[in-house]
Amino acid sequence: MQLLPVLLLLLAPAALALWPNPHSVSFGSSSVTLSPTFWIHWASTTPAPADMTAAISRTMTQLYTDNLQRLVVGRANADLHALAYAAQLPMLHLEITGSSEIKSIMAEATCALEYRDESYMLSVPADGTAAMIQANTTLGLFRGLTTFSQLWYTTGGVASTFPYYSFFPGASMLYSVQAPVMIMDTPAYPYRGLLLDTARNFMPVTTLYRQLDAMSMVKINTFHWHITDSQSFPLTVAAYPELSQYGAYSAAQTYSLQDVQDVINYAGAIGIDVMIEIDTPGHTAAIWESHPDYVACYNEAPWGTYANEPPAGQLRFAVPEVLNFTQGMFASILSTLPSTLFSTGGDELNTNCYVNDTIFQHALVEAGQTFGEALNTFVLGTHDTVRAAGKTPVVWEEMLLVQNVSLGADTLVIVWISSDDALAVAQKGYKMIHGPSDYFYLDCGGGAWLGDDTLGNSWCDPFKTWQKAYSFDPLQNLTESQYSLVLGGQQLLWTEQSGPENVDPIVWPRAAASAEVFWTGANGPDGLPRNSTEALARLHDVRYRMVARGINAINLQPEWCALRPGDCNLV
Ligand SMILES: *[C@@H]1O[C@H](CO)[C@@H](O)[C@H](O)[C@H]1NC(C)=O
Ligand SMILES: *[C@@H]1O[C@H](CO)[C@@H](O)[C@H](O)[C@H]1NC(C)=O
Ligand SMILES: *[C@@H]1O[C@H](CO)[C@@H](O)[C@H](O)[C@H]1NC(C)=O
Ligand SMILES: *[C@@H]1O[C@H](CO)[C@@H](O)[C@H](O)[C@H]1NC(C)=O
Ligand SMILES: *[C@@H]1O[C@H](CO)[C@@H](O)[C@H](O)[C@H]1NC(C)=O
Ligand SMILES: *[C@@H]1O[C@H](CO)[C@@H](O)[C@H](O)[C@H]1NC(C)=O
Repeated sequence: MQLLPVLLLLLAPAALALWPNPHSVSFGSSSVTLSPTFWIHWASTTPAPADMTAAISRTMTQLYTDNLQRLVVGRANADLHALAYAAQLPMLHLEITGSSEIKSIMAEATCALEYRDESYMLSVPADGTAAMIQANTTLGLFRGLTTFSQLWYTTGGVASTFPYYSFFPGASMLYSVQAPVMIMDTPAYPYRGLLLDTARNFMPVTTLYRQLDAMSMVKINTFHWHITDSQSFPLTVAAYPELSQYGAYSAAQTYSLQDVQDVINYAGAIGIDVMIEIDTPGHTAAIWESHPDYVACYNEAPWGTYANEPPAGQLRFAVPEVLNFTQGMFASILSTLPSTLFSTGGDELNTNCYVNDTIFQHALVEAGQTFGEALNTFVLGTHDTVRAAGKTPVVWEEMLLVQNVSLGADTLVIVWISSDDALAVAQKGYKMIHGPSDYFYLDCGGGAWLGDDTLGNSWCDPFKTWQKAYSFDPLQNLTESQYSLVLGGQQLLWTEQSGPENVDPIVWPRAAASAEVFWTGANGPDGLPRNSTEALARLHDVRYRMVARGINAINLQPEWCALRPGDCNLV
């Protein structure tokens, strides 16, 4: 009798290997296999939007191509005995609930954050009856499909020892050992992003597609595309084609209008909104290449006096023509974007740049404005353009906390310098996105990249591990009345030292950490605080699945440990 509780403990199944962890989940310990004729059924009378149909067939393909054996000692062989009498899952119904119009995944993924509905319910019975995903939107169904595909493992080529498969020598079977599964899921925060910089080093669209695939696997819903900077201007702007013609590293290292639409459409179809950033008025030296009259202190030496990294060069924002140009450039770009968010940047504005710039100083005198007044005029002028296009402006924290620009109340502020700055943003009453360098920067710890700083470190050293990112508390230091100002957050990769060759290993699976922080929230489905010791086994699982889907995500531990959750903990 006394042995019983111990046995129960030993037999208690580990948490389902889902990432991010759902809001609520219950599961059993029965095995279910996917029927050889398993299919996904669109249960509405209204035809499925094209990207939903594509998501269904992509999910079917992934089920049969992931080829992931469960991460247990013995892998698939360890589960075979449990499968002999398992029920077969015949189908998965996808059902839209409610009476709203059925829209495409992309339409739902790019609508304003406050209307975004990613919630879904998923049930997988253990008795051979059909599984079901219900959601109010195609986006919710898509999130449910993503979760569904994380439930299945392959037997490898051993299924022919089972009756149904004996006709197919070498065939494999897909199974789950934790049915029945019941999940009710909805994100804790509406904004869950990843920033990639394509200006320090260029990344081709195929590389971006791969990042989007990985983002979608962990339900990240925003690609913050820092597309231009002082080093290069790869974005083609219809109204000002000379910007990329002269400002890109080469003609091959540009994004055409079509490329940008392709990335937006690719992202939208897998549940991701693309928020483009044109950083202004700093970080704009590359504009000098085509518009030398608009840029002060271009490549001025020593660069450290005029900029945080070479080359120096910032827009002469007090010059009316520069505002006119920036508004025209933004309007041209904005007219092509479905997202309701657009970032005008605003970080690291260097005041030395303007001290001896006679054109800038003359413009201040002409306007009868101080530096701060002129900056206010410029930033608010560009934000008018953003709003005129029906979108919400987004800025880096300095615009609010350092330059004191009188930002409109709708403006979203990204915290990056330190997690401690979130409190000041909240105290000023602005909505925020967390991207603090002390938790979420992916580019720290690689040493300095400056040529003569051989033993130096990057400014944001040390390396930020996934555990560090995972430990972030989005509500730290805030009072309850300020909680609703937090829209979410993101990890960020600045690409001084990365490009298509190494972006996957630098980002994945680390960026999955913030994906769970902002999807799952403070507590896991068991009601206990999220905890990286518990999370590790699930993160291994999604990392192995990423590798199966062609993403070069790094190992977190020796495989021996991945197969033995807890055995490699520090004791
Ligand atoms: C659908 O919308 C209703 C009403 O807004 C809401 O209560 C529910 O949580 C949503 N999600 C699902 C999966 O039904
Ligand atoms: C820029 O100036 C030109 C000429 O004065 C004007 O036609 C145009 O509307 C202005 N553009 C913006 C975006 O204000
Ligand atoms: C501006 O010019 C003066 C005189 O040449 C020089 O001493 C000073 O260092 C310059 N300041 C900046 C910020 O460039
Ligand atoms: C902005 O406000 C802060 C806090 O009130 C102050 O410390 C800072 O000097 C101000 N910055 C400017 C540029 O006026
Ligand atoms: C926020 O809280 C942390 C931990 O309690 C503390 O170290 C930090 O100083 C606080 N920051 C601010 C700006 O109050
Ligand atoms: C974290 O989870 C592990 C494994 O589930 C558990 O043993 C540990 O007590 C938890 N730690 C904390 C601090 O909650």
